[in-house]
Amino acid sequence: MVSEVHNNPAAILRVERLSMKFGGLIAINDLNFEAKRGAITALIGPNGAGKTTVFNCITGFYKPTEGMLTMTRQNGEEYLLERMADFVITKKAKVARTFQNIRLFSGLTVLENLLVAQHNPLMLSSGFTVLGLLGFPTYKKAAADAIEKARFWLEKINLVDRADDPAGDLPYGAQRRLEIARAMCTDPELLCLDEPAAGLNARESAELNKLLLDIRDETGTSILLIEHDMSVVMEISDHVVVLEYGTKISDGTPESVKNDPKVIAAYLGVEDEEVVELIEQAEAAGVDDITAAVDLLSTEALHEIEEAHPEMAPTALIPATGTPKAKRARTAVAGAPAAKTAPGKSRGAPTPARTPVKPTGATKAGVISNALPEPRGGKADKLILIQGIGPVNERKLNEHGIFHFDQIAAWKKADIIAAEIYLDFDGRIAREDWIGQAKRLAREGRTPAPRKTGGAK
Ligand SMILES: Nc1ncnc2c1ncn2[C@@H]1O[C@H](COP(=O)(O)OP(=O)(O)O)[C@@H](O)[C@H]1O
Ligand SMILES: [Mg+2]
Repeated sequence: MVSEVHNNPAAILRVERLSMKFGGLIAINDLNFEAKRGAITALIGPNGAGKTTVFNCITGFYKPTEGMLTMTRQNGEEYLLERMADFVITKKAKVARTFQNIRLFSGLTVLENLLVAQHNPLMLSSGFTVLGLLGFPTYKKAAADAIEKARFWLEKINLVDRADDPAGDLPYGAQRRLEIARAMCTDPELLCLDEPAAGLNARESAELNKLLLDIRDETGTSILLIEHDMSVVMEISDHVVVLEYGTKISDGTPESVKNDPKVIAAYLGVEDEEVVELIEQAEAAGVDDITAAVDLLSTEALHEIEEAHPEMAPTALIPATGTPKAKRARTAVAGAPAAKTAPGKSRGAPTPARTPVKPTGATKAGVISNALPEPRGGKADKLILIQGIGPVNERKLNEHGIFHFDQIAAWKKADIIAAEIYLDFDGRIAREDWIGQAKRLAREGRTPAPRKTGGAK
């Protein structure tokens, strides 16, 4: 394989000629880019562009069809990630990641989640024995170090007060920060984050930005950040790489990328030649900033989608206007196939409500259509088997008459909205696919599982 990019010590990660095929589908096509050491590099692009697949190749979840992924550590050691197993990548190459859907141990406490991340040093110093765990000095030292590190990150993410609460009961934004802290507890040199801002409200999003800048500036960790939403990355990225259909279409500073017509076209799902026309429209409407223009044009695109698909509820398509979050939601929605995409050139199923849309106007707070006065047969299902439901939320659901998987499995949109209002969840039910999980659990006929006392998952 010919290496086109020559060894550049400033690059912590070099991606060369990366391709990934799934059967006939080319998810990534001959991709080349570099992530610079000590910088935040963003990988952006519409839904289905191949961003997560790139991460899965870097972190050893997929073996690429072709290509070379070179990680150069601070000490000069080089690792060819495409040849390594995922756990070795974390341990030796010092690459850590978070997932598009939160993967915390929801039944473990916040602190425990941070300690579990460090189980390798703990296990090593215990000599893998019970004796070791029962108080040998080396173990005690490792345990103290692990707790110290966890404390450090708890302070960074503002969760010291909630250290002993189950992770599953934290608000969504706090769970996102906890996931990042957990990844940082493995001392990565490269931190890969898959859509960490998805579904956050404006305040949570600002906290996240601060945390990422803090990680970059204070620990020197390099960050590779996947984002669907352009306006988020523009604020904190040093360098942006844009993917569309698995191919790189732009690569440069946030400034240069956001003014690149190819990028705008990709986000709006239009042909390149239509972009000029769209920009003119935006200028005529008095919008000169391109990101704002994309927002504006996305709204237009939304109206077109709405006209083309009257069966879709308008509230699902048009978020409330005026808030930064709503603005972001519009941009994100623009990543879904827009109205002008020719039939047959679809980027996938239209999923306009990918970024959660806060219900506006009349809401039926607290009214869930299939609430029960009490559990059938006097025995509730263990709702905490649904990933994302912790003990506190289980209790809240019970208080609102939800006891069984089949009840959640049958929820309609109005029920989800009602549930989210009192759980203060904001999009989490869809994101964590409670309905799908509940359907599976109901199908399997999961009755309360016999569990050991204090049994966390
Ligand atoms: N394991 C897989 N098997 C088959 N197709 C996949 C798999 N993973 C991803 N894809 C496909 O690859 C394309 C890129 O997906 P993905 O990397 O998830 O995009 P993004 O993260 O940019 O939204 C999509 O068409 C997706 O359906
Ligand atoms: Mg993805």
